[in-house]
Amino acid sequence: MIRARIAGTGSCMPEKVMTNFDLEKLVDTTNDWIVTRTGIKERRIAAEGEFTSDLATRAAERALEMAGIPASEIDLIVLGTVTGDYPWPSTACIVQNNLGAKNAYAYDLSAACSGFLYGLGCASDFIQSGRGKKVLVIGAETLSRILDWTDRNTCVLFGDGAGAVVLEAAENSETGLLSTHMHSDGSYLDLLYQPGFGTRMMPSVQGVETGAFFLKMQGNEVFKVAVRSLTDISNEALAANNLSAEDIALFIPHQANKRILEATAKRIKMKEEQVYVNVHRYGNTSSATIPVALDEANRAGLLKVDDNVLLSAFGGGFTWASALIRWS
Ligand code: UT7
Repeated sequence: MIRARIAGTGSCMPEKVMTNFDLEKLVDTTNDWIVTRTGIKERRIAAEGEFTSDLATRAAERALEMAGIPASEIDLIVLGTVTGDYPWPSTACIVQNNLGAKNAYAYDLSAACSGFLYGLGCASDFIQSGRGKKVLVIGAETLSRILDWTDRNTCVLFGDGAGAVVLEAAENSETGLLSTHMHSDGSYLDLLYQPGFGTRMMPSVQGVETGAFFLKMQGNEVFKVAVRSLTDISNEALAANNLSAEDIALFIPHQANKRILEATAKRIKMKEEQVYVNVHRYGNTSSATIPVALDEANRAGLLKVDDNVLLSAFGGGFTWASALIRWS
């Protein structure tokens, strides 16, 4: 049986740090409120002239370097993002050109915070079908560009960043990606979305004046569904692999809010030391949270051969997804 295994991980965070104390000067908020309600202490903000494709390219280069695989050997690039450089063509094509990955075809995938895990699911199916052997999966965002910096309900929550993995085909392998699961429910669209400027609401002076370009979220409604969906998708992944919570070496949930992580971990009976948390340093970077955390855990030596690693995400759409990896 062919399985996709992770051959390398990489990430790239912008240098500029914005703390909660910096935000106190912008909106009516406090460090105490943000830390208590979200666990976030600081986030990274892309520099002027630094785009989603730049962060994605650097994360991908680091993953390729770790894998020891030249960009020319990549068959496919899948990039999860809601903040691509252009409405079209895809940011994945920009990254392909930046990397010199001449033999890859490349596309963006729009699944909000689940974008990286949706990408992992597509890439795993691609490899298992025998269609190609080496895939780059990236989650990259510059959410700071679509935040309303006068809205304390949203601007304190998000940040910029990118993470990537290189997947390669492994024949008759007991390790690698054991399962991926993906779900959507479009009936929740308006709890978390960007109203303009797609073709439904084209750019206009009125649209700019009413802030239609900014991310909108009904936080406490999203919170409830997020905990429920992350719990369900995590249990689904465990059951599909005949595993229980104690078999998991590391659980990496989407990093949106520490309270969501804790509530989910409690429901699926995961102990605090099994859960990877970096939301305090980066806030919610949407599709980038999971590959960034995976790269950090990998480079910190937290992942050993045969460890079971559970990844679970939830985001706008709504979308939710999981991946269970036996580390190699
Ligand atoms: O990545 C995909 C999914 N996204 C998420 O999973 C995010 C999910 N939601 C959340 O993380 C939380 O709901 C929030 C952090 C957004 C909000 O926390 P909450 O405990 O649900 O607070 P709330 O929205 O119920 O607001 C409580 C109060 C409100 O004041 P009143 O109406 O009670 O007077 C808000 O206006 O807190 C106020 N508030 C703030 N106060 C200080 C909201 N934002 C702020 C702020 N600083 N930044």
